[in-house]
Amino acid sequence: MRQAKTIYDCLFDARRKLPSPDAEILTATALGLEKSALYAFPEKPVSNKEAERHKDWLSRRIIGEPFAYIRGETEFWGLNLIVNPGVLVPRPETETLIECALSLIDKDSEVLDLGTGSGAIALALAQETNARITAVDIQPECVDLCTLNADRLGLNVKVNISDWFTNISSSFDLIVSNPPYIATNDPHLTHDGLAFEPLIALEAGVDGLESIRTVVKESPAYLRSGGHLLIEHGHDQREQVTSLFATSGFTKIENTADISGTPRVCSGTKP
Ligand SMILES: C[S@@+](CC[C@H](N)C(=O)[O-])C[C@H]1O[C@@H](n2cnc3c(N)ncnc32)[C@H](O)[C@@H]1O
Repeated sequence: MRQAKTIYDCLFDARRKLPSPDAEILTATALGLEKSALYAFPEKPVSNKEAERHKDWLSRRIIGEPFAYIRGETEFWGLNLIVNPGVLVPRPETETLIECALSLIDKDSEVLDLGTGSGAIALALAQETNARITAVDIQPECVDLCTLNADRLGLNVKVNISDWFTNISSSFDLIVSNPPYIATNDPHLTHDGLAFEPLIALEAGVDGLESIRTVVKESPAYLRSGGHLLIEHGHDQREQVTSLFATSGFTKIENTADISGTPRVCSGTKP
């Protein structure tokens, strides 16, 4: 009879194939353990089901599938969000946009999140404020997932399908968006984990600015006077995005860098 695998066997296998701390995190999660249990009880046998899950997760992670898809959930702004390959995995740098938004929201604000994906931005703002929040996305999968995440977290967000502003009929105090901003021929699209994520969430025409151009150009019509637009953009797009804000008549244009010092968010006010 074959001996059951132990926690140590699983960890050893993962460490041969993945860097640290990925190997430890994947092993602990697949086996349903705290990370400390990997070291406390290494000789403990794991069930066949756990061993199979560990093997499956390891083989998927090795070929670059994001851990968030394998696990089916991720953390953003302290919120546990369900994710699947139909939506972008929320990124830590998007928390910069949340910080900027929080400095502009008051209790009476009406906020629109364009291209909500899993609902990361809308739900973080709903968690932190009493603002009335609408979230839209062009993909039905995103509308469904944002709704599911809002229900699970008990957060109040109105979710609709919309191709940017096509289904929007009211005006807002703040519009926020992390739109697609990678150029069509950018080699990153086919590398790393990005190849596993929906192209519609990433790619934005030959210069990567197609979506940002549309959102910046159309936003003034949906903003109240004195309202703000906040857009996340690519690491090398600060100047072009700033100039798009100016062309659309925004004032008080500001740029904010993310935690790594990379220019990441552009904001402007409708006069
Ligand atoms: C970069 S992802 C951001 C997702 C989420 N807001 C986040 O920060 O994790 C861009 C999102 O925009 C959506 N999107 C792309 N084109 C769109 C369009 N024309 N109208 C509305 N949403 C769109 C995609 O489906 C995707 O969910």
